[in-house]
Amino acid sequence: MTKYLLFFSLLLLLACSNEQPSNKSNSPSLNFNHAMQSFSNYEEVTCKHLDWNATIDFSKKIISGTATWKFENKAKAKTIRFDNHALAIKQVQVNGRSTNFNIGTAFEKFGEGLEIPIQEGDSVVAIQYETSPNATAIQWLEPSQTAGKKLPYLFTQCESIHARSLLPCQDVPAIRITYNAQIQTPQGMMAVMSARNPQEKDPSGKYSFTMEIPIPSYLIALAVGDISYKAINERSGVYTEPSMLDKAAQELSDIPTMMKAAEELGGPYRWGHYDVLIAPPSFPIGGMENPRLTFATPTIIAGDKSLVTLIAHEMAHSWSGNLVTNATWNDLWLNEGFTTYFERRIMEKVAGKTYNDMLWELGYQDLLSDLKDFGDTSADTKLRIEIGDRHPEDAFTNIPYEKGAVFLRLVEETVGREKFDLFLNNYFQSHAFQPMTTDKCLAYMDEHLFKEHPDWKSKINVQQWVFGSGLPDNCPHTFPERFQQVEEKLNGMKQENMLTEMDTKTWTPHEWLHFLRGLPHPSSPSVLEKLDATFHLTQTTNAEIAMEWYRLGISSGYDVILPKLDAFLSSVGRKKFLVPLYTEMIASTKYKKLALDIFKKYQNNYHPQTASKLRSIWSE
Ligand code: BES
Ligand code: ZN
Repeated sequence: MTKYLLFFSLLLLLACSNEQPSNKSNSPSLNFNHAMQSFSNYEEVTCKHLDWNATIDFSKKIISGTATWKFENKAKAKTIRFDNHALAIKQVQVNGRSTNFNIGTAFEKFGEGLEIPIQEGDSVVAIQYETSPNATAIQWLEPSQTAGKKLPYLFTQCESIHARSLLPCQDVPAIRITYNAQIQTPQGMMAVMSARNPQEKDPSGKYSFTMEIPIPSYLIALAVGDISYKAINERSGVYTEPSMLDKAAQELSDIPTMMKAAEELGGPYRWGHYDVLIAPPSFPIGGMENPRLTFATPTIIAGDKSLVTLIAHEMAHSWSGNLVTNATWNDLWLNEGFTTYFERRIMEKVAGKTYNDMLWELGYQDLLSDLKDFGDTSADTKLRIEIGDRHPEDAFTNIPYEKGAVFLRLVEETVGREKFDLFLNNYFQSHAFQPMTTDKCLAYMDEHLFKEHPDWKSKINVQQWVFGSGLPDNCPHTFPERFQQVEEKLNGMKQENMLTEMDTKTWTPHEWLHFLRGLPHPSSPSVLEKLDATFHLTQTTNAEIAMEWYRLGISSGYDVILPKLDAFLSSVGRKKFLVPLYTEMIASTKYKKLALDIFKKYQNNYHPQTASKLRSIWSE
């Protein structure tokens, strides 16, 4: 009898453990919407406006304050749910009444969820809270990591789902909010946001902001530091540390010309000012399209305007992304593909077709490289992807950017530029401030481009491009004239003849990039030595060239680069540079250990998003 009992209890135990296969922290206790990567019930109760009151504490690396949300409860829901990630919630009031609240268990990288009971007629919730020093949206910099070396600095990066570590919010791109903010900084600092911005420091350290145009949560942004402003014209200028200001304003002086080109394509710029914040070097990405104030890496300040294409890209997001916004991160190509296409059209206007062809080609090479890495049949090579349980950041590959852009180029070439430009302009105007899904976008194309020309649609093979993997054979591709002669030089190199300075006199960094990518990896260190003697590549101050050169140097075992590489890895935080460099080092027997030593030395300089990305390379 006891034997049987034991047997049954064992069975019961097994059955129970079968029902809950994963450990507790792997299953969210509050409803988690996997498709939207969100805990919020934004469809029932929808946030409309934020009043954010916040104080910046550099010594504790904490932002403390109150997020007061105005919401609409159309569905008469009994609770309002927010996304929050490692926020310490202190107190909650609904329509002035103190109320209890419930925080769910942590669910991987998505946060915890915050649930607050509400009653019919309620419309305001005030949440008093503190951020964690490890908030993934925020990087806190020591004075030593700034140009001025005297004051600390902080900046945020909320795309894709990091806003929830800055403040409790309904962190989905499908809804939009307006905001006001009051930010208290220490003395001598300036705060700037994705909003109407001050142009001078306030001795009290108190700053007020308004963003009266509705934006999704991922476009909330803040930077605090020794920041000053220099105007370029009436509506554009640069924010950066004082010692960088003149150089940055000089580098970005073509912004008005770019803006004119962008408006010709997209229609009037709707956001008032267009300014750029040049962040400290640890900024984890190239640029971020925060409305009214693009945040950008200082690695674009090359001294010769050769890398300002990035500004054309972020500016283009003022239409594709910020005006018409991907409804879910699965539709990311609607943000990044449209923007990359738009960026190239701006550059064609401001720099000419021969120049622009080089940008298309480098992008095409990036695309082929990802297609090769993922494999042609990988579902992640579809334009419309399924992120599933992964972090939305994993979707930011060259596929949505470059496959998206080249698809739109094919549509343009098929229907003709005039018709396509009219379509693009109408697409932005008629869906302004709305979320956009892939299906809705394709339906709009059908209606405005293909209704009278079903043959165009089948010739393009829209379905295959958007929902199929790999790259269809009708992908437009023109090999740029200016790379033709780079190819000749590369062939010459193969016959042991070195380049002369003469050959490269007219080269932009783009020709250099094509050249460096085209050299054999590895090459013999003596070839690199000869190139260095003539072109001083190890000394380059152009970050894009430096990255390609160091990468070649690592694969070739060319030790000369090591001090420069070390200095680069100590300050630059841009993932696009660090990931390939560390990957290359880890893959080589010679520098594998060095990679770990360097990472250990500098990991505290890196943005939390960069550091976690780099850690994942070792575990791959
Ligand atoms: N929206 C992105 C920034 C971004 C990238 C946010 C990845 C979150 C994750 C921005 O518009 C962008 O694409 N930046 C590029 C530069 C651009 C010229 C391709 C970048 O940062 O490298
Ligand atoms: Zn972009």
